[in-house]
Amino acid sequence: MEQLRGLILSGGKGTRLRPITHTSAKQLVPVANKPVLFYGIEAMAAAGIKEIGIIIAPETGDEIKAVAGDGSQFGVEITYILQDEPLGLAHAVLTAEPFLRDAPFVMYLGDNLLQGGIAELVDAFRANEPEALILLTPVPDPENYGVAELNGHNTVKRLVEKPQEPATDLALVGVYMFTPQIHQAARAIEPSARGELEITDAIQHLVDEGRRVEPHIVSGWWKDTGRLEDMLEANRLILENVEQQIDGELIESQVEGRVIVEAGARLIRSTVRGPAIIGAGATLTDCYVGPYTAIAEGCAIERAEVEHSILLAGSSVCGLDGRMESSLLGRNVAIRRDDRQPRAYRFMVGDNSEIGIL
Ligand code: G1P
Repeated sequence: MEQLRGLILSGGKGTRLRPITHTSAKQLVPVANKPVLFYGIEAMAAAGIKEIGIIIAPETGDEIKAVAGDGSQFGVEITYILQDEPLGLAHAVLTAEPFLRDAPFVMYLGDNLLQGGIAELVDAFRANEPEALILLTPVPDPENYGVAELNGHNTVKRLVEKPQEPATDLALVGVYMFTPQIHQAARAIEPSARGELEITDAIQHLVDEGRRVEPHIVSGWWKDTGRLEDMLEANRLILENVEQQIDGELIESQVEGRVIVEAGARLIRSTVRGPAIIGAGATLTDCYVGPYTAIAEGCAIERAEVEHSILLAGSSVCGLDGRMESSLLGRNVAIRRDDRQPRAYRFMVGDNSEIGIL
């Protein structure tokens, strides 16, 4: 088989993660202090893929280029491909055709996280040589995904994009392997009700033509990180596997369990209970940070308790008298409560935000 290429889709508007995604691409929101996008690039690199095309949108493309660069930090070569409008995943494939040419390829949705990487799946694709290899996993809300119906275990009967009445609970995971046959299939289909060329319909077209589409049920976890709850869950799942590593400074402070304290971070009279990560240059003063928290570089937390939350770079939390939990703070957000009486709250918050005082 010809050398496999990689295609990562990193366009889209990220409407479900607003307001964070008003100012930043959803694929760059960090999970355990690393952009979601990097997990996909690393999975491809680990599977031996050297040439990766990344689909970008006009709104967020520059930011993605600035962060992922030419790929040398991952040992791969990245080519950026501009998709002018979000017209669907199959449209993205057609947009990438000049890059992909007649190479087989792995397509990875840039906001997806898949435990265990893709090396085994790439091996199966190479060994069995189907026209497409798709990944499936049971989900509680199949109506929000592409849904598969199988004949037994080995062949696909039907794929439907976001059906109102799903025939099964098997969702299409956002990682696919294709031969160049997918290009003609993507050209043959019509836009869906939401006005997009759906990759699900293109794969169904291959099935209709009698071509071999091999289904694999994924064994580990998978997350599409499109919503706040999913981001927090992805953060939990990744942090679950970190090992303790303390490169920062602990001053009259304790860390318990699997905690990463990056270089230049300072803990002063604070306790961090893992799994958690404290980013480079962050300062925690008189704080408690509880499990499943990722605090990015340069954050400052003072006299506060934070648990099960994600704080992006440069944010600060000061003087909260209750615990902040299950929260996602964007970059450079400041949350402060002054100690003076009477108690008052003062917020400056982006569009479509929600602040719950419980
Ligand atoms: C897309 C696909 C869908 C797939 C999902 C996985 O959905 O269209 O078939 O199950 O990704 O994340 P979208 O993110 O466009 O809603």
